[in-house]
Amino acid sequence: MNHPFAAPFLLHGGDYNPEQWLDAPEILEKDLEYFEKTGINTVTLGIFSWAALEPEEGCFQMQWLEDVIRRVWDRGIHVILATPSGARPKWLADRYPEVLRTDASRRRALFGGRHNHCYTSPIYREKVRRIDQELARRFGSHPAVLLWHVSNEYGGECHCPLCQERFRGWLKERYGTIERLNHQWNTAFWSHTYQDFSQVESPSPLGEHALHGLNLDWKRFVTHCTADFLDWEVKALRESGSRLPVTANFMYDYTGLNYGKFRSSLDVVSWDNYPTWHKGPEADTAADCGFQHDRMRSLLGRPFLLMESSPSSTNWQPVSKLRKPGILELASLQAVAHGSDSVLYFQLRQSRGASEKFHGAVIDHYGGPDTRILKETAQVGQALSRLREVAGSSVPKQTAILWDMESRWAMEDAQGPRNQGLPHKETAMGMYRALRSLGLSVDILDMEDSLEGYRLIAAPMQYLFREGIQQKLEAFVREGGILVMTFWSGVVDENDLCFLGPTPGGLTDVLGLRFCEIDGLYDWESNRMVPVSPAGEEPGGVSFARSYRCSQLCERILPSSARTVMTYGEDFYAGEPVLTCNAWGKGQAWYLAAAAEPDFYRDFFTQLAAPLFPERPVSDLPEGVEACLRENDAYQYLFLQNFRREPAAVSLSRAGSDPETEWTCVFGSFHGVLDGWSTAVLRRKRRPS
Ligand code: GAL
Ligand code: ZN
Repeated sequence: MNHPFAAPFLLHGGDYNPEQWLDAPEILEKDLEYFEKTGINTVTLGIFSWAALEPEEGCFQMQWLEDVIRRVWDRGIHVILATPSGARPKWLADRYPEVLRTDASRRRALFGGRHNHCYTSPIYREKVRRIDQELARRFGSHPAVLLWHVSNEYGGECHCPLCQERFRGWLKERYGTIERLNHQWNTAFWSHTYQDFSQVESPSPLGEHALHGLNLDWKRFVTHCTADFLDWEVKALRESGSRLPVTANFMYDYTGLNYGKFRSSLDVVSWDNYPTWHKGPEADTAADCGFQHDRMRSLLGRPFLLMESSPSSTNWQPVSKLRKPGILELASLQAVAHGSDSVLYFQLRQSRGASEKFHGAVIDHYGGPDTRILKETAQVGQALSRLREVAGSSVPKQTAILWDMESRWAMEDAQGPRNQGLPHKETAMGMYRALRSLGLSVDILDMEDSLEGYRLIAAPMQYLFREGIQQKLEAFVREGGILVMTFWSGVVDENDLCFLGPTPGGLTDVLGLRFCEIDGLYDWESNRMVPVSPAGEEPGGVSFARSYRCSQLCERILPSSARTVMTYGEDFYAGEPVLTCNAWGKGQAWYLAAAAEPDFYRDFFTQLAAPLFPERPVSDLPEGVEACLRENDAYQYLFLQNFRREPAAVSLSRAGSDPETEWTCVFGSFHGVLDGWSTAVLRRKRRPS
């Protein structure tokens, strides 16, 4: 982070593609009028504009962009400027076929689509560098421009000969000798031993895909290549003198890249959120979005940007459902509540033709001022302007969930105890929703993150232990932290080789137990978790008044020093431990051996976490209500949001209340009750520390 981004206000606006309307100046004029009406203060330009900016090789035409920037800036509207590398012009593909991507079956693509170029191709790199430099020279210190939006949703992978060569070089650097690679990938299996790096090929459905070490390294390599391409673009911008901060927009739960590896290149994280509202209960959708927002915020531990969202529906999901009135504001403010300094849409004006012509947009084909969406976006605009002072405020560190992409890659690739689906997300979400229902903020971390400053960390199904994570977790517990680790953790090492000896590898002392066996359950099967500790002897102060259902995966574990809190109720392992607690240093290490029903997480974390955070302003939220805290030096902001249609009662804790630091409502309305689908924001002065 070299050029930190500080949003001067909450950004409101989104992707704008005037290049599709250059022959219709009256439309562009109308847009400006609507921007003003809807409180749009930021437009993102240039994302897919390469063909308009460089219609022929080396011949740049940037005047139209300059005109648009000037015209929006005349009205005080800021610009996020994209580099156009997300889609390439036809001349480039025709003249230099090496820029076209090759898929895992070794087929080279024809021209078309987007996000489909080879990141290794020296020609692609050179052409991108040229146009990025041109843009940077021309606009890189323009007062309207706030930020670089580098490319668009980096993703995918290329298996062309150039990428194969580069992969081999990367492996050579990683392993040094082919013997070492053979050992780490366990290639003796099925006689897949390599004699030389030159023989290695990327995984393919037509060839090698059984070596998990290869698959994992390929994914790491794809991330490396892509992050390196981002760096290449950033370098081009910097070389041309631009000091503007940089972002790259990320995608929802995207598993093609390890976003954690991008953070050193970015000044601010941004992402694109397209939830399927009304497909299920809104509270579920909200929890899912909340998790993603929190992951994005945690990447840099600073405010992020919501770069794209639909003002109404999408047109690429199986069903394009309209958002019912009120959801736009609720969903938009949810992003802000979780730490976003923006609400940006895709897109401001709907395309007239091609594949996104029916995607929701602020201004639609009808083009008149009297549309529901214009009204609702204007409302969001007003809300963001009232909440302007929230920009830049941070979210306090309280609890965290480990959610590591490399571990997930390896776990999902492994053929193991349940190939018809692992309860990874359910377990993490069960924990997440439990912590959130207690009014706590949750950071979503990976194994590279520092664990300092948290009081409770949950580690659901951390199958692969990356180098050093055991030491960090041990220190965390020793210093007084509470760790909750689950089944199917610490099974393999950094290279996807199974730990030999007792597991979770390297943590058996801290957890006070070892893993014995894991039972995969059919969908129709379940077991029970039965409380056992006699009253007055509850380890960690935790006790349960009932049993809970568990399913999918049940581990048999053998405690050494850990104390058993619950046991299995059924099957041949009935009576064996399923929940244990081990005292370690000043802290506690808990182990949950099976995938539990959601109520369990709520009852468990209520007992575990509640005493750790007596100062939190709300402590027990009804289902579907979220509370989020943001703070700056002067104030704390409490966002209360009700994702249910019915009103909900919320009580604020009185702990340490004094008139100087009373909550006052600065947005929406709140008198102990929140209306259905509504947001209230309360503010209080911070106590001098
Ligand atoms: C995003 C993409 C946008 C637009 C949008 C439609 O993934 O970045 O360019 O296609 O989806 O929902
Ligand atoms: Zn390639």
